Amino acid sequence: MAVQTVATDTTASPSTVDLGPAAALSCRECGHRVPLGPVFACEECFGPLEIAYDFSAHDTEELRKRIEAGPANIWRYAPLLPVPADVATKPNINPGWTKLVKADNLARELGVTGGLYVKDDSGNPTHSFKDRVVAQALEAARAFGFTTLSCSSTGNLAGAVGAAAARAGFRSCVFIPHDLEQGKVVMAAVYGGELVGIEGNYDDVNRFCSELIGDPAGEGWGFVNVNLRPYYAEGSKTLAYEICEQLGWQLPDQLVVPIASGSQLTKIDKGLKELIALGLVEDKPYKIFGAQAEGCSPVSTAFKAGHDVVRPQKPNTIAKSLAIGNPADGPYVLDIARRTGGAVEDVTDEQVVDAIKLLARTEGIFAETAGGVTVGVTKKLIENGVLDPSLTTVVLNTGDGLKTLDAVAGTGLTATIRPNLDSFREAGLA
Ligand SMILES: Cc1ncc(COP(=O)(O)O)c(C=O)c1O
Ligand SMILES: [Zn+2]
Repeated sequence: MAVQTVATDTTASPSTVDLGPAAALSCRECGHRVPLGPVFACEECFGPLEIAYDFSAHDTEELRKRIEAGPANIWRYAPLLPVPADVATKPNINPGWTKLVKADNLARELGVTGGLYVKDDSGNPTHSFKDRVVAQALEAARAFGFTTLSCSSTGNLAGAVGAAAARAGFRSCVFIPHDLEQGKVVMAAVYGGELVGIEGNYDDVNRFCSELIGDPAGEGWGFVNVNLRPYYAEGSKTLAYEICEQLGWQLPDQLVVPIASGSQLTKIDKGLKELIALGLVEDKPYKIFGAQAEGCSPVSTAFKAGHDVVRPQKPNTIAKSLAIGNPADGPYVLDIARRTGGAVEDVTDEQVVDAIKLLARTEGIFAETAGGVTVGVTKKLIENGVLDPSLTTVVLNTGDGLKTLDAVAGTGLTATIRPNLDSFREAGLA
């Protein structure tokens, strides 16, 4: 199926765009629909736009077979994603189909009896779940005729955009807070694109990018998490699809998901609902729990206070990838946690570090701070009697510990010895 390039304006005719099963952009607030295009805010109420699909043509068993016969990456779900059907022939970083690790040792430590799994997204090409969302945004950028990819990032997204742009032959120019972890900076810079540090926190970076979009200097740029956000966000649905397929086409009972902007959590919920609607999994209740670091916990604070709105915070935490003080999808996360019977909880930086070590020690998985947040929150929720240990639970690790080495900087050599057995014995290691 050929993809035609369309003008990068909101008046593009829907008939000139071919984005697979995506039918339109629909406002999450008022339901107003507009043709597919590089727009992200509703012209009626300024609410966020998301992709609406027409899945009516799918036969459940044929779809299941097609997915199972597909590639070991997110494109196995192409019939459910807003991408052109011939995406496999174009250079993309092809993320996904990461391991769902049955975490029996961790389960024993935490007292989980109903089955505990870690969805380990550190196994993606640039070692975080962000490759999933960027892969979608890249296809949308191609379809809309952009040649520069950009983003505001807490670190992981910058690397994912840099890599995808390098592979696809796009220019990239990405923006990050100036004081990120060295691992994130190097991972973002190594692909050869432009990497700009902004003197400020993520929320300042994001505001700057919104200004740049409206300026001639940003014309023709695809900001993956701003003007391409509806397409970008859909990439997170593939986490839900994979988890269910890897569980033998079953819904888990409980999921623990990290929150920065909240986009990932809302799309995991969307993905689960789609699988139910398509008949690919049997309908049953599931609970979604959100995880934040105490030093940037606007959503958990609102959840605990019973508020519907999220009051912005100034972030101060080692979990820099989650350090968004004014999360765009915060209110939707609150809705989902409350609707599904889940919760939003936070942990201190010390608990984040302990949880990183716990996961590494029990399962051989080295998580970045975001993974420390989800594991730490899971532990806290069990201890507080909020998360039911007798139910099947999936905890997300969305990034690689090698990018946040400072968090566990005190970890190192057990001993330094001379190269002989006496020295080995002296050190008490025999
Ligand atoms: C490793 C990691 N996990 C989770 C998230 C949360 O993503 P979202 O903004 O979709 O809530 C981020 C965001 O940057 C991240 O880098
Ligand atoms: Zn609207």
